[in-house]
Amino acid sequence: MCKRASGVILIGMRNTHANRDNGGPAVQIAEHGAPAVQTVGLTKHFGHRAAVEDVSLTVPRGTAYGFLGHNGAGKTTLIRMLLGLTRASAGSATVLGLPVPAQRARALARVGAIVEEPSFYPHLTGRENLKVAAAVRGPGVRTRIDEVLHRVGLENRANDRVGTYSLGMRQRLGVARCLLSDPELLILDEPMNGLDPGGMLDMRRMIRTLVEEEGRTVFISSHLLDEVEKTCDVAAIIDGGRVIAQGPIDELVSGGGGELVVECDDAERAAGLLAGDTAVHELRIEHGGLRMRLLAPEQAGEINARLVSAGVVVSRLEPVRHSLEERFLEMTTRLEVAA
Ligand SMILES: Nc1ncnc2c1ncn2[C@@H]1O[C@H](COP(=O)(O)OP(=O)(O)O)[C@@H](O)[C@H]1O
Ligand SMILES: [Mg+2]
Repeated sequence: MCKRASGVILIGMRNTHANRDNGGPAVQIAEHGAPAVQTVGLTKHFGHRAAVEDVSLTVPRGTAYGFLGHNGAGKTTLIRMLLGLTRASAGSATVLGLPVPAQRARALARVGAIVEEPSFYPHLTGRENLKVAAAVRGPGVRTRIDEVLHRVGLENRANDRVGTYSLGMRQRLGVARCLLSDPELLILDEPMNGLDPGGMLDMRRMIRTLVEEEGRTVFISSHLLDEVEKTCDVAAIIDGGRVIAQGPIDELVSGGGGELVVECDDAERAAGLLAGDTAVHELRIEHGGLRMRLLAPEQAGEINARLVSAGVVVSRLEPVRHSLEERFLEMTTRLEVAA
């Protein structure tokens, strides 16, 4: 199964503050074709402390979007604002193109959400819990119960009491409850929290299926960077209430194409040839090979041509891939140093 949603067009990934700066309306997009979620300058203060500060996000449709940050970074607070559970102090947001909280009811009719841990009646079975949920969602919803139980892989345990379920099973039952209303967007707050490796794998596969086979958008918050890297197509990293990076996972992982590693027959000579090149920064010899930072990834081809034409035999030339975790630590540390 391919991890990335194919054919997804990522539009407007990098937000600018242009709308606000020129005094125009904060978010003004047609409902159809609008991003699944868009926020502009979203801010939430508790007293004089900012839990979420000037957050501008674009969540493209049909993707698994990771909202990553340590505990206390502001993830749940942002989700609560999107769901109209708490009011923003400043900024604006749309969900499926509809402004929230102004059109909260219309927007949320097409959204399934779990904020913090889902709660159920432990003495009722999984199926009975879904019947209770279906009853409040309106006529016709009950007919979807078998389908959603199957979708989350709980059909064989549906008649057991929820009190006997593992945390992973309760999380999946939570997703099943969200799916009852056939939502376009799922917002899951820390769905992997507390799950064992098997439970995480089940959750990850389920999220990929919801995105790839059913075309839904899944927004997940997490402090588990490795899981976001494995599960999501796009992510934002939040630290101290502020977004410090956002974009496709591939770009976040490669750091925008920055670093290049070159292995060749004569690293000393190659370093001499590249020293002074304005495209090459932080040139150094490491483990017998060369490492450097480039301004643009396309410059790798030029580097190769220069070395080869000078008679250097290049055996390997590739961008350095960082795990998202390394990037996350690198970015948060850099912020601390700058502060
Ligand atoms: N109701 C509240 N009153 C005061 N402070 C709060 C409240 N909710 C959250 N906070 C604070 O806002 C910050 C972000 O919290 P939260 O959004 O829960 O973070 P996360 O979900 O990323 O762990 C924390 O410093 C937290 O203590
Ligand atoms: Mg939280």
